Amino acid sequence: MLKIIKYPDDFLRKKSEEVKDFKDPQIAKLVSDMLKTMEAEKGIGLAAPQVNSSLRICVVRVDNTAHILINPKIKSFSRKKEVFEEGCLSFPGKFFPVERPVKVKIKAKDLDGRKIKIKAEGLLARVLQHEIDHLDGVLIIDRIVK
Ligand code: NI
Repeated sequence: MLKIIKYPDDFLRKKSEEVKDFKDPQIAKLVSDMLKTMEAEKGIGLAAPQVNSSLRICVVRVDNTAHILINPKIKSFSRKKEVFEEGCLSFPGKFFPVERPVKVKIKAKDLDGRKIKIKAEGLLARVLQHEIDHLDGVLIIDRIVK
C-alpha cells in the first residue's frame, strides 16, 4: 500500500516525466502497488504524483476493467462537454463540479512499452482526463465550474 499525497502538498503540482526505461523493474512494481492502493482506497483512478512518483503513469478502473497508462496523451476531444461532480483521493470526502469533454481519444504505452489507443466516453473518459491532469500538475479545484 502506498501513501496518498493530499492537497495542498506542492508535489501534486509537479509535472511528471515520461517513462523511458520500460525494462526498469521499478515501473511494474509501482503500477502493481498503484492498482492495489486504488482498490484499497475504493478509487476509480490514481496517478503516480499522488503516490510520490514523478513518472507519467496512471491507473484507472471503470466497469471492472483496469487500464494502465504510461506516458498517456490526449489526442482529441469531443466538442460536447458535460458537468459532473468529481472526487479525488487527494481531496478526501470532497466533490466539485467539473466540466469536461464527453469523449476523448488517448494514446499511451503499456507496461512493455507497446503503443495503445483508447477511445473513451462517459465515466471512463472523465476519469482518464482527471488522471492525465494529475500528470500535468492540474487538480480538480483548477477546473471547478463557476
Ligand atoms: Ni485525483
